[in-house]
Amino acid sequence: MPLVTSTEMFKKAYDGGYAIGAFNINNMEIVQGITDAAAALKSPVILQASAGARKYANSVYLVKLVDAALSLHPEVPMVLHLDHGADFAVCKDCVDNGFTSVMIDYSGHSFEENIEESRKVAEYAHEHGVVVEAELGTLSGVEDDVAVDAEKALYTDPDQVEEFVKRTGVDSLAIAIGTSHGAYKFKPGTKPQLRFDVLAEVSRRLPGFPIVLHGSSSVPQEYVKIINENGGALKDAIGVPEDQLREAARGAVCKINIDSDLRLGMTAGIRQHFMAHPDHFDPRQYIADGRKNVYDIVAHKIKDVLGSDNKI
Ligand code: G3H
Ligand code: 13P
Ligand code: ZN
Repeated sequence: MPLVTSTEMFKKAYDGGYAIGAFNINNMEIVQGITDAAAALKSPVILQASAGARKYANSVYLVKLVDAALSLHPEVPMVLHLDHGADFAVCKDCVDNGFTSVMIDYSGHSFEENIEESRKVAEYAHEHGVVVEAELGTLSGVEDDVAVDAEKALYTDPDQVEEFVKRTGVDSLAIAIGTSHGAYKFKPGTKPQLRFDVLAEVSRRLPGFPIVLHGSSSVPQEYVKIINENGGALKDAIGVPEDQLREAARGAVCKINIDSDLRLGMTAGIRQHFMAHPDHFDPRQYIADGRKNVYDIVAHKIKDVLGSDNKI
């Protein structure tokens, strides 16, 4: 089958109480690790490319790598998604060049500016059969000493979501409930806790509407340990507990974004390989170990966290 949009995927995920993994792609081995795992677990998958990925690899390569993965796994429903599109121009470029889903991230702008840019993107994308994700709220780390007003500003305001979705016409909404990007999400020593009350209120206001969680890496400590035991220095790397992601996936959250965990897996594999085989200099040898970890991590997420296995 050709690349698909996430419309049907999200409907099934919402009704079935699971979520689709959205994994970031940057090179061939990452695409292979993710899509081989999705195929083995019979799971739909979203492959997403950030601005950084498009600059690093060249968007043309990424589109064709995903096309190659699709040729090898034609039974797997795959979405090619733009992650954190900065403005209309970037989103338009992806709509015009093979992506089936785009994110317009105007969450750093005012509510009205966010509505206007997201609406413009949704209008153009929909004319071309492409779906749109937008973001409302500020994604940030949870700091327990943050002032009350500042804390409120970190989370999505449920009072705004109905108006935002209605006026923009977007197809899914990323919200802020305490996740954040990167490998250092929470203060060391604190117990990470997502704001399920905010999620519940948002889903009550938007029945049946797909919600997206960014910054959802769990920072597996076994990979952090391998990295640090093999010359790395990742101090206090902490992620979102997987049981909380599982709980979110049971409800309105239909898309869960994971990038940092794949980076950790790739790095752990390569570092371990170099330490064990200082004489090796063939990239196929050490990158293969990184790719194997990407496969293992994605397979684990699909089966034990997202619950999207055996859904095709
Ligand atoms: O949301 C951020 C993703 O992890 C992508 O990161 O912009 O470094 O490619 P990047
Ligand atoms: P992580 O850094 O937690 O993997 O989040 C990735 C993400 O949200 C990509 O948009
Ligand atoms: Zn993100």
